[in-house]
Amino acid sequence: MFDPNIIKKDFPILNRTVRNGKPLVYLDSAATSQKPQAVIDSIVEYYTQHNANVHRGIHALGDESTRMFYAARNTIAKFFSADTNELILMRNTTEAINAVVYMWAEDHVSVGDVILTTEMEHHSNLVPWQVFAKRKGCSIEYVRVTESGELDMADLKKKLRKGVKLVAMSHVSNTLGVMNPVAEISKLAHVVGTLVLVDGAQSAPHLPIDFHKLGCDFFAFSGHKMVGPMGIGGLLVRAEVFKHMHPFLYGGGMINEVSLDTTTFADVPDAYIAGTPDVASTVGLAAACNYLSKLGMEQVVKHDAELVSYALNQLKKISQLHIVGPMDARKRCGSVAFIYDGVHAHDVAQILDSEGIAVRSGHHCTMPLHAKFKWGATTRASFNVYTTKEDIDVLIRGIQKVKEVFGK
Ligand code: ALA
Repeated sequence: MFDPNIIKKDFPILNRTVRNGKPLVYLDSAATSQKPQAVIDSIVEYYTQHNANVHRGIHALGDESTRMFYAARNTIAKFFSADTNELILMRNTTEAINAVVYMWAEDHVSVGDVILTTEMEHHSNLVPWQVFAKRKGCSIEYVRVTESGELDMADLKKKLRKGVKLVAMSHVSNTLGVMNPVAEISKLAHVVGTLVLVDGAQSAPHLPIDFHKLGCDFFAFSGHKMVGPMGIGGLLVRAEVFKHMHPFLYGGGMINEVSLDTTTFADVPDAYIAGTPDVASTVGLAAACNYLSKLGMEQVVKHDAELVSYALNQLKKISQLHIVGPMDARKRCGSVAFIYDGVHAHDVAQILDSEGIAVRSGHHCTMPLHAKFKWGATTRASFNVYTTKEDIDVLIRGIQKVKEVFGK
């Protein structure tokens, strides 16, 4: 049975106290999730027992390390129902998106072409395209976000046309918490010959992802948001698209043969691993995938839906709060952000922090979205498998404290 109170015990950091003995209530999982003991142990075990470079040594440790690395890569790909040769390991979502610029867009997008993205993007899926568009002389267009905080599908359909080379969009917004219909959008895009890049940073921790069913061409994710270590994530690439890409890092490990005149390269995906990879973090991410798979992603998404619905219902009772994003919990995932009328988000977060409650405040790397709605800053509570309804009750009591301090 899925019980977040039992799951919590797997996460040692959630036992600690902060701010003069207050129990930690961690509601900042969209920024980074906490790690279960199984993930921590897998990294310690790797460095204690198996550490050696991969592909390079004939010796016992080199062999063990290489086998562990390959097995971990298979586990991560399988978690997304993808093939191992569709997965390029990356440091995080940001690196994965930037890599698409160098590995694909450089050769396939030119003057006059269009990159279509949205007003709700995290800076990581906006700035790389903005800089690229300026350098290449192509243009960037943004699909509108409606007043209720959803993607305007009519606007998307109007803007999606021949000449749009790529749709780059988030699966789940880190600010609005809204889920976007990326499978439907992928189908629409392919009709006009457009590729689709999905920023899966906020969906991979909560939703069961089947890369093939999603139908996008690129799916970027970060391990650290899905109870895995920092510094490891990935880019899933549709097998057919690999034929039109090239690595963006060259060097050792990704070659077949090198002479002074020329080089032949290893097969995909090894051709995309130049230099020593982060084996320990890859092993750690595989342990995280195993941990989530054991809980069952169907249960994980159900738990998240219950939390989001509970949080929305509790927060909307507080008259000083304006919740951002759709009020229908079925359209959301992972987080709820809000504005406290007349009190700056950093002040709200500071008062919550003094009660041991960790939330994020500010623009959450979505400045254009905040500017569009003239929000200034928002306060965000975000969840993961170890979050309980009691954690949300503590948040609600913390918000009452804001009222006491500011008298409004
Ligand atoms: N992208 C992360 C967040 O939304 C850091 O907090």
